[in-house]
Amino acid sequence: MMQATKFAAVLWIAALIAMGTMQAQQGGNQPQATNKTQAATLTISADKVVAKVSPTLYGLMTEEINYSYEGGLYGELVQNRTFRSDWSGVNEWIVTPYGSARGSVAMDKTTGPSAVLSTSLKVTVEQADAKDAYGLRNGGWWGVPVRANTTYTGSVWAKGDAAPVGGAAVRVSLVADDSGKVLASAALPALTTEWKQYNFTMKTGAGLVASAKNSILLSVDRPGTVWLQQVSVFPPTYKGRANGNRVDLMEMMAGMHPAFLRFPGGNYLEGNTIAERFNWKKTIGPLVDRPGHASPWSYHSTDGMGLLEFLEWCEDLKMQPVLAVYAGYSLGGKHVAPGPDLEPYVQDALDEIEYVTGDVTTKWGAERAKDGHPAVFPLTYVEIGNEDNFDRSQSYDGRYTQFYKAIKKKYPQLQLIATTKVNGHAMDVLDDHYYRRAEEFFKDVHHYDAADRTGPKIFVGEWATREGGPTTNFGAALGDAAWMTGMERNSDLIAIASYAPLLVNVNPNGMQWQSNLIGYDALTSYGSPSYYAQAMFAGHIGTEIVAAELQGAGDRLFYSVTKDAAKGVVYLKLVNASSAAQELKITLDGAKSVKGAAKLVRLSAGSTAATNTINDPKRVVPMESTVTGVAKTFTRTVPGYSIEVYEIGVQ
Ligand code: AHR
Repeated sequence: MMQATKFAAVLWIAALIAMGTMQAQQGGNQPQATNKTQAATLTISADKVVAKVSPTLYGLMTEEINYSYEGGLYGELVQNRTFRSDWSGVNEWIVTPYGSARGSVAMDKTTGPSAVLSTSLKVTVEQADAKDAYGLRNGGWWGVPVRANTTYTGSVWAKGDAAPVGGAAVRVSLVADDSGKVLASAALPALTTEWKQYNFTMKTGAGLVASAKNSILLSVDRPGTVWLQQVSVFPPTYKGRANGNRVDLMEMMAGMHPAFLRFPGGNYLEGNTIAERFNWKKTIGPLVDRPGHASPWSYHSTDGMGLLEFLEWCEDLKMQPVLAVYAGYSLGGKHVAPGPDLEPYVQDALDEIEYVTGDVTTKWGAERAKDGHPAVFPLTYVEIGNEDNFDRSQSYDGRYTQFYKAIKKKYPQLQLIATTKVNGHAMDVLDDHYYRRAEEFFKDVHHYDAADRTGPKIFVGEWATREGGPTTNFGAALGDAAWMTGMERNSDLIAIASYAPLLVNVNPNGMQWQSNLIGYDALTSYGSPSYYAQAMFAGHIGTEIVAAELQGAGDRLFYSVTKDAAKGVVYLKLVNASSAAQELKITLDGAKSVKGAAKLVRLSAGSTAATNTINDPKRVVPMESTVTGVAKTFTRTVPGYSIEVYEIGVQ
């Protein structure tokens, strides 16, 4: 990540924290000690290192769900840019003839710009002029976000018939829905009778109030026939990448300090059918050569977010990819039998790994270079399939073994992740998923405490407290934070962990899964309380787990203690999931000296139902303060319903 962008993300989080600090009014020193329970003790042995903290513990899991990319992270503003149609017409495109303009539109199945986009929208204009153009309007993804002084970048594949469509006949504009005012516009040069991609930019002027109540208008201002395909409009993207990502969502993710990105699923990897799997080879190269495919979450993916875009997303946020390869099982229940039938899929996975890691002298490394990225990407983890416990044919043992052997033979350094327990073959890492209520997490925070350390490492590849929607509430954040204390204390075993799902478009019908981390509409985005809990934990992770013992606290107080010896810091995380404040005597044994002032970041709310929404995005945000009176032994009151992270200076 470029320093400037990272700095912006840090500033953004710092601003939220600062705002909270003001609201806190020295809250770090003056906790609301209502309804206190009896004093408990937490004895930390700062010099007793139990194990190392996994540096890759906290990461992100992503897939195309809840309009995560289409209408979400992927910057494309046009919905249905390739003119897919059904019995009622061309989805999302509204014919808009102005004044006396007359014409018709129809799908033409005989011509398109590429083998995979072999159809196009034929626009036959009988009557139109500069004042009364014949238009087609696209409403974007629940609106088109338009801001002042902003350059929008676009492209259209087009061709025209003979002379009448010569000259600048086709225009693309951003138009305000309420007033019809043109906010920015670009004319394509004269079309030829051959398919060609036309690139353009449109710039808005000053004085616009940012709004999503806009449309994208394609218009033709003279009689004639034009054929159109793949109409694309992008706003400025993160780091200015062409075909890139939404800036606000990338900055929110940067605020979570993620070490890795697990992609492309999830169910999205598997598809409902084998044909609808994430077939990575169809997601690379020029957009015009990507057919797109149906996603299992009920809508179409253009695959504009293809394999290389996932990798560049990793690069931009300094995350390592955790690459899930399709392993021969799809959600509808069909599987590919291990043996010769599975071989092409194994080869696809080997090719995919080569696309990610192979230098330019390899076949697929050269392909990646051709696609614009000669440098290799780092890769440690490859996951074989997704949730193969659902495969009732019990074929995973055989499928996994076949993939494992082939991948390890060529790439012995890779850590391979099994999606369910495999009989008869070693596993490097096992992926456990937990979708739960807060109560279940509270009861299970010791899940891994006594787990076998001689078997595979653990990837908690999907986990979440499922309370509240479209993004989870503060009660869920308590469940999440309690669970994270358990994962941290066991992060010698749990090498990596990622919450799911990450993203949700909060518009009606935008959501398919009702408990998500980050919500957004076309214009703005926000983090759930769970988001902030994760940002707090991952931002204060430490390098070593130190011994600690909690006594007398009941079953609603959770903790984790780590340290970073190089920084001279102990990180203490406390989660009070009770409504009652908890008096806590903290002893730091084994420390030569303890700094009297410590940093405290606290997330708290008056009720478990408290939450953030698109219209009220900062109701529950972390508050930072300085706590004084910290010593080898000191007492704190942990407020009811609170998540706290202390950064204590020690020698
Ligand atoms: O996170 C939503 C879905 O839950 C994932 O696609 C799947 O792996 C799991 O069942």
